[in-house]
Order: sequence, then C-alpha cells, then structure tokens
Amino acid sequence: MQIIRAGEDVRTARRGIEGTLALVPTMGALHAGHLMLVREAKVRADKVAATIFVNPLQFGAHEDLGRYPRQEARDLEMLEREGCDLVWLPGVDDLYPEGFATSVEVRGVSDRWEGAARPGHFAGVATVVAKLLIAVAPDVALFGEKDFQQLAVIRRMAADLGLPVDIGGVPTVRDADGLALSSRNAYLSEDERVRALALPRALEQARRAIISGAPVRGVLQQAREDLAEAGFAPIDYFALVDAATLEPVEQPSGAMRLIAAATIGTTRLIDNLAV
Ligand code: PAJ
Repeated sequence: MQIIRAGEDVRTARRGIEGTLALVPTMGALHAGHLMLVREAKVRADKVAATIFVNPLQFGAHEDLGRYPRQEARDLEMLEREGCDLVWLPGVDDLYPEGFATSVEVRGVSDRWEGAARPGHFAGVATVVAKLLIAVAPDVALFGEKDFQQLAVIRRMAADLGLPVDIGGVPTVRDADGLALSSRNAYLSEDERVRALALPRALEQARRAIISGAPVRGVLQQAREDLAEAGFAPIDYFALVDAATLEPVEQPSGAMRLIAAATIGTTRLIDNLAV
C-alpha cells in the first residue's frame, strides 16, 4: 500500500496506477462502515485509493473539529489489511493553499435538514470532495448511505460539474444492536450508547407505521416524542422525504427515506432508513 503524505504529490502516484481506480474519501477514525466502502470499491475497480482528511471547511465554528478522533496508525493498518492500494493523507495546505478562495455550493438539495442545521457544512463537503475527485481522478467514488443527504449533494455536484466519475452509494453498516456505525459514536458514554438505540428504533417503528398506512404527521410526532423520552435534545429533524429530492413527503408514494438528526449528551447523531 502506497502512502502519500502532506506535501507529497498525489498526481504522480495516481499516474503510476494501472487499470480502473475507485476512491473512498474519509475523515479517518475508521470503522466497519468505512471498510465496507473499501470492499465495495474493490468490486467496482481494479485498484482502490482512500483519503484521510479531517476537512476544516465542513465544520462549524462551534462543532467538534478540535476533538474529532484521530487515529492514523490504526487507520492505515485497517486499510492495508483491507487491500487498499493507495492512501492519501493531504495536509490542510495541500487542499487549501494560501489565498484559497473557491467554494462549491450545491443549491436545492443542500438547503434543508443537515444544510439548515449546519450552515456551510455542505459547501465544505462539496468543495473538498470536488478537490479530492479532481486530484485523484478515480473512475468511481464511493460514499455511505449513512450520510444520505451528503450522498445526494455529491451526486448533484459531480453531475453539475461534469466530473468524469461514477458516484456509488453503499448501505449503512450497523452494530448488532442496530446503531449505525459512526466515528462520533466514540464520544458516547456507556449510558448514552444504550439510550442512542432509540434513534434506529424510532426510524424502524416509523417505517412500519408508514407502510401500514398511519398518517405521516402523527408518525413523525410520535418518533420525536420517543427520542425526547430517551433523552435526545435537541432533535434537529425527524422527517419523511422523497429519496431523490429530499423534499418532505406528506402523502407516501414512490421511493422515500426517513431521515433524522438529534443530540444525546454532547454527541449529535444522524441516521436514516429507506421506506
Ligand atoms: P466520514 O464521516 O469519515 O465518512 C466517510 C464515508 O464513510 C462517507 O461516505 C460516509 O457516508 C461513510 N460511512 C460512515 N459511516 C458509515 C456506515 N455506518 N455505513 C456505511 N458507510 C458509512 O463523510 C465524510 O467522512 C466526509 O464528509 C467526507 C465525504 C470524507 C468529506 O470530507
């Protein structure tokens, strides 16, 4: 596995790779969800590259950039074991050199939900992902459905900019008890970890209720109450949306998604479920 570090030239390394290439962008603190993306990458292309970069542009002023878990040696071991061919760990100066002044803003699909709760977040994501895709020039790039709106924003961005890359989505990997794997789960205390299960449970209950024809508004209200009862506060959103546009759905039809974001203790969790 070739490792390209801050200040080193990823483009030269890229030119040395033969065959098709799949890219898995990450912020590190890797878990089985990230590794599932690497596994899917190996199916989709001859060679696999990953990036590890905690992107300051996508964190708000009062968010967890400073305490975001960093475990580079362990991450590299996991990627090596998974059969990754190339890892790029750019420095902030590699991606945002002195005078950097460009932002990629994806209107519409970015506006609601995470976009509303975290102003500037998706511009930060779209900007860094555009840069990573341009620098590494993969044939395909893989992202998790765990971050469902992010996946939609990245698909829109790649299509709008005409980037010659296929964007692939990978289903959410969960712990045996149902909690979606996330680097941020490391922040949870033992007690919070137990209470956090209310989130996947509320999504599953809401899914069943909607399928059985219960009125959407009441289902969503019940879910918010269940989350509050478990100790989540604030609940940023718990919504039923169109899976393509992410616009709220009142009369169930077509491909839909339940999406939710809520904080337990000091940890903000997001999750979603297909309906
Ligand atoms: P990060 O949170 O490290 O996630 C990297 C990729 O792993 C994302 O595509 C995310 O959706 C996926 N992922 C995370 N948890 C998952 C799970 N439980 N199951 C399946 N996939 C999962 O998302 C980011 O980093 C950043 O925003 C990034 C795209 C790298 C841009 O900075």
